[in-house]
Formats: sequence, C-alpha cells, structure tokens
Amino acid sequence: MKIVVSNMKGGVGKTTTAMYLVAAAASRGRPAVLVDSDPQGSAAQWFEERPVPGVDLVEAPSERTITRALTRADSDNVVVVDTPPGDERIVRAALRRADSVVIPTRAGGVEPTPVLTTLEMIPEDTPCGVVICAARLGTNDLELTIEEWTSARVPVWGVVPERVGIAAGPSARLYREGLETYDTVLRRALRSRPR
Ligand SMILES: Nc1ncnc2c1ncn2[C@@H]1O[C@H](COP(=O)(O)OP(=O)(O)OP(=O)(O)O)[C@@H](O)[C@H]1O
Ligand SMILES: [Mg+2]
Repeated sequence: MKIVVSNMKGGVGKTTTAMYLVAAAASRGRPAVLVDSDPQGSAAQWFEERPVPGVDLVEAPSERTITRALTRADSDNVVVVDTPPGDERIVRAALRRADSVVIPTRAGGVEPTPVLTTLEMIPEDTPCGVVICAARLGTNDLELTIEEWTSARVPVWGVVPERVGIAAGPSARLYREGLETYDTVLRRALRSRPR
C-alpha cells in the first residue's frame, strides 16, 4: 500500500503528516517504509534525528529515484511518501503510483487553490482525502472548511489540532494525541476505495 502525502503548497504539514502516518503504521505492527522524495530532505533529517522503530527510510529526491522506489515497493509494506511543495515532476511521478493520496491543508482563505491543483494531478481513480493540519478547534473557519470539502466531495480524513507537541517536530518524541489522530487518517487511507 503506497500512501503519497502531497500538496503543491509549502508549509502546510506534509512532512509532519508523513512522519506521523508512518509511525502509526509501524505501531500497528505493519512493516513500514518512509520515502522522502523532497530534495530538501526534511523527513530524512527528522528520521535520522528520531528514528521510528519498525520504519525503514528511503531517500528518493528525483523523478528517477522516486519512480524506482515506488515501482519496487513490496506490496506487504505500508509505504508513506513525503513530497516536495514545488517540484511537479517528482510529485507527478509519486502521485501516478499512489494507492491513496493524503492532502494536508489548513483551514481558511487561500488554502483551497493549491489543493485543487493537487487534486487535478491525481489520477482519476486514485482515492484521496484531505487532512486539516494545525486546526483551531471550535472556530468558524474550521467548520466552514470542513463543509466546503465535504460538499465538493473531497472527504476529510482528519482534523489535526494545533499543538505545541506536534510543532516540536524532531526535537521531541512523536506526540501521543497526534499519533492517535493520524492513526484514524491512516485507517481511512488504507480502507479507501477507488473513486
Ligand atoms: N498539528 C500541528 N500543530 C502545530 N504545528 C503544526 C502541526 N502540523 C504541522 N505543524 C507545523 O507547521 C509547519 C509546517 O509543517 P511541515 O514542515 O510538516 O510542512 P510541509 O508541508 O512539509 O512544508 P514544506 O512544503 O516546506 O516541505 C511546521 O513548523 C510544523 O511543525
Ligand atoms: Mg516538508
């Protein structure tokens, strides 16, 4: 199962989402692989600083290497791919081979456009859902955003609250509440069916 985490916009929560999803897979006892296709290597650096037990890291920061990594992926593994924000060739190569796509986004204003751009890049049948990252629970902005995606028939697979423990990244352990929330996202991505 290959889960690609993607949004053409930067700084929305892709790397954070990829780290938590792969950790959630490992904590379910699934053989899990983290593939970092971002030339910036943020997920790889995070992983090197804080390895997750039961997870293997593959760095694949080019169209050629991501294609090879996903073509050769063992179908028993849960493979989670972090992608770069701007590199369309790498992102397309990853999306083309995805079994499921998780799109991290934020609530509010200018956020939908890059999600729509990302949605257009996903092959027609490939299941996908959005995850609203660093969400402020109880705000109108959040409620409206959930309503908008739902009425656009893009399922909301998760709402991850804004937490200092998640923002800490590699300088702290994975935050328990984050792991629980992302476990739900993982379950939805694993169970998703072609659109
Ligand atoms: N639930 C959360 N609560 C608080 N902060 C969060 C949460 N999720 C993500 N962040 C923060 O948002 C910032 C951007 O997250 P992240 O690096 O995962 O985004 P990205 O999409 O991978 O960025 P880039 O496009 O640069 O690769 C980071 O500082 C991260 O700690
Ligand atoms: Mg990133």
